[in-house]
Amino acid sequence: MIKDRQIKIAIIGLGNCASSLIQGIYYYRNSKKEKFIPGLMHINFGGYYIDDIKIVAAFDVNSNKVGLDVADAIYAKPNNTVVFAKVPKIGIKVSKGPILDGVNKYTSELVPVDNSQKQDDVVEILKKSGAQIVINYLPVGSQKATEFYANAAIEAGCGFVNCIPVFIASDKKWAKKFTNAGLPVIGDDIKAQVGATITHRALVSLFLDRGMRIERTYQLNTGGNTDFLNMLERERLASKKISKTESVRSLIEARGQTIADNNIHIGPSDYVPWQKDNKICFLRIESKHFGDVPMNIEVRLSVEDSPNSAGVAIDSIRCMKLALDHKLKGPIIEPAAFFQKRPPQQFDDRIAKNMVEDYIKKYARKN
Ligand SMILES: NC(=O)c1ccc[n+]([C@@H]2O[C@H](COP(=O)([O-])OP(=O)(O)OC[C@H]3O[C@@H](n4cnc5c(N)ncnc54)[C@H](O)[C@@H]3O)[C@@H](O)[C@H]2O)c1
Repeated sequence: MIKDRQIKIAIIGLGNCASSLIQGIYYYRNSKKEKFIPGLMHINFGGYYIDDIKIVAAFDVNSNKVGLDVADAIYAKPNNTVVFAKVPKIGIKVSKGPILDGVNKYTSELVPVDNSQKQDDVVEILKKSGAQIVINYLPVGSQKATEFYANAAIEAGCGFVNCIPVFIASDKKWAKKFTNAGLPVIGDDIKAQVGATITHRALVSLFLDRGMRIERTYQLNTGGNTDFLNMLERERLASKKISKTESVRSLIEARGQTIADNNIHIGPSDYVPWQKDNKICFLRIESKHFGDVPMNIEVRLSVEDSPNSAGVAIDSIRCMKLALDHKLKGPIIEPAAFFQKRPPQQFDDRIAKNMVEDYIKKYARKN
């Protein structure tokens, strides 16, 4: 019998995504009573509810956030996502982690770092807090910082949920490190509930199912949060573009079709400050009907970027807890395939969803 039903998480990067996740945990704190929660696969997920998730540690470098109670830090600037819950103090202060490559020339204008603030010992805090799971919400391109926190998770004996496109679960070397440490990892790059990636994948699947070729496609995204500001630095974008492009290309190739590099363009496209956390996606697919007659489809999707993936994060965290309960190690394939853009192995979304349902049945807690 597994007695401990608390899911103790440590969060790296208290930006907009962390804000939506923490607001959601509070907003749905009586989840057992709810009949439906948008964004979750199940209210009772393998025996775990949202209420079981406890934040026990949090790390950031922004001097507006470090030292604050987590409940205050999630509303501090430059966070600008929608506030749907006012979270009361939770008694956990934001610790300061190493900066490494977490802040760049664009974000440094909005993310103040006070070098006189003492840097905390990440591994020691993780161990003392009893954290079981580390969830990574660093900015895109934080290669060194992500590797630092992934190593810290291993040293502290925690599972790692990697929501960003720095490749850990899908990287053979890192996957092996987690396997060797006897710890699970879920990643990489979280897929939003109904976001640009899943919409693009659904439309591409529709075309393929109806016997069409994908001749050309693009997905252009704009937003006004620090995630989009950070991605103005094109060099940091390489892995994001790979992650987003592979997510669509893999479907095309799975059906025996190919698409040339210059006929598929997917990625973040610009920073528009007044959009705040609202992300707009412009998506186009060009194809040909019977008789080689051309056709195309255009979609404009508008979403609040951060709440859009918070439910997916909650389900990923609960999958990770089931993995820890059963001492699974290395990359956890099923939740990664459904919840992440760049999993170790890509599957069709309907297949991936059934894989997660089977995973829940197999590993659900019995009491
Ligand atoms: N919104 C979504 O649906 C979605 C989907 C997929 C991936 N993501 C990824 O999730 C990540 C987080 O997104 P966000 O909107 O919260 O970004 P954000 O910029 O609001 O938050 C990042 C946080 O990390 C902090 N940080 C920077 N360097 C750090 C360091 N060295 N140590 C600790 N903290 C540090 C920043 O101060 C900030 O608080 C991004 O990489 C984004 O691309 C988001």
